[in-house]
Amino acid sequence: MSELPVQIFEVGPRDGLQNEKQILGLADKIWLVQALAAAGLRDLETGSFVRPDKVPQMADTEALAQHFVKHPPVNPHGSTRMWYLVPNQKGLERAIASGATHVAFFTAVSDSFNKKNIGKSVDESFVEMKQLMIDAKKHSLKVRGYVSTVWGCPFEGRIAPAHALLVLEKMLELGVDQLSIGDTIGVANPSGVKEILAPLIRAHGVEKMAVHFHDTRGTALANALQSYELGIRAFDASLGGLGGCPFAPGAAGNLATEDLVYFFKEMGIECGVNYRALCETSVELFKRMKKTIHSSKALQAYVANCTKNSVWDS
Ligand code: HMG
Ligand code: MG
Repeated sequence: MSELPVQIFEVGPRDGLQNEKQILGLADKIWLVQALAAAGLRDLETGSFVRPDKVPQMADTEALAQHFVKHPPVNPHGSTRMWYLVPNQKGLERAIASGATHVAFFTAVSDSFNKKNIGKSVDESFVEMKQLMIDAKKHSLKVRGYVSTVWGCPFEGRIAPAHALLVLEKMLELGVDQLSIGDTIGVANPSGVKEILAPLIRAHGVEKMAVHFHDTRGTALANALQSYELGIRAFDASLGGLGGCPFAPGAAGNLATEDLVYFFKEMGIECGVNYRALCETSVELFKRMKKTIHSSKALQAYVANCTKNSVWDS
C-alpha cells in the first residue's frame, strides 16, 4: 500500500486522542489532520465511528469526515488516505454516510479484552466482520484489520503465540487490504515480535503487514527495528506518543511518530515525512491541549534544541 520505502500510518487523531479526557474541539482536529497531511503523512486515521458515549472524544467523527470529503487536506505526496475505525454495522453505515473511503475493522486475540472493548467474543466479532467486509467491498472501501493483544492481554496475561497466529490468519482470510498487528498494552519484546512475525511473513509475505506498537515499557522502537529487519515496511505511530485504548487498563501511548521518523531519517530510509513540520505540529497540539510532552524522546530533544539549529533536529 506504500509508494515510499516505508509507510508511516499516523493514528494520532484516533488512537492518540481517544484516550484523552479533555475534548479537542472540531476546529482543532481539522487543523491537526491538515497539519499532519502537510507534514507528508499519507495515511491518517482520522476518527472512529464507535458509540459516542463510550469514547466521547470521537463523537464528532461524522463532522470531521464530512469536512474532509469537501476539503481534502493538502499533502505534498498527492492524496491523503483518511481512515476511520469501524466497530460494527452501525459504525459502517455511519462511515459510508459520511463519505469514508478507507475503514478499519478490529478485534483481538483475547476474549476478555474484546468483550470489554466491543462487547463480543473474538469468534462473534469475526461473524460480524465477515458481513462488514461484504458491505465494505460493495462500496469499494479499502479495509484495514486490526488484531489487538497479540503479545499480551490486560486481563488474560501472556498470549500463546500459536493462538495469536490463528487469529491473525483469520483476519487475513477475511480479505483485508492491510493487517495491523497490535501490542495493545506495550508488553512485546523483539524476540516475541520475531516469534509472531517470522511465520506470518513466511506464509503470507510482508506486503499486507503493518505493526502497531504501544510504548508502555519503552520497547516500541526496538520492536519496530526488529519488524523492519524482518521485512515489515508499514508502521503505525502517533504524534507525541499519545494514545492508548480506554478499555485496556495500563496501556500507555503509541510509538511516537517523531521517534520513528527520526530513526528512519537518521538511517537514511525515506518515509516521506518532514521532521520539522511534524515536530512543530506536535508542539502546537500540546500547547492547545495544555499538556506536557513526556512520551516522545525525539520531540523532547527537538524542543530543547530547535533554536540551536542542531543538525539532528531539523
Ligand atoms: P453495543 O452497546 O454493544 O451495541 O456497542 P448494540 O448493538 O447493543 O447497540 C446499543 C446502542 O448503541 C444502540 O442504541 C445502538 O444504536 C448504539 P439505542 O438503540 O440503545 O439508542 N450503537 C451505536 N451508536 C453509534 N455508533 C455505533 C453504534 N453501535 C451501536 N457504532 C460498540 C458496541 C462496539 C459500538 C461499543 O462497545 C463501542 O463503541 N465500543 C468502543 C470501542 C472503542 O472505540 N475502543 C477503542 C478502539 S480499539 C483500540 O484502541 C485498539 C487499536 O488501537 C489496536 C491496538 O492498540 O491493539 C485499534
Ligand atoms: Mg492502539
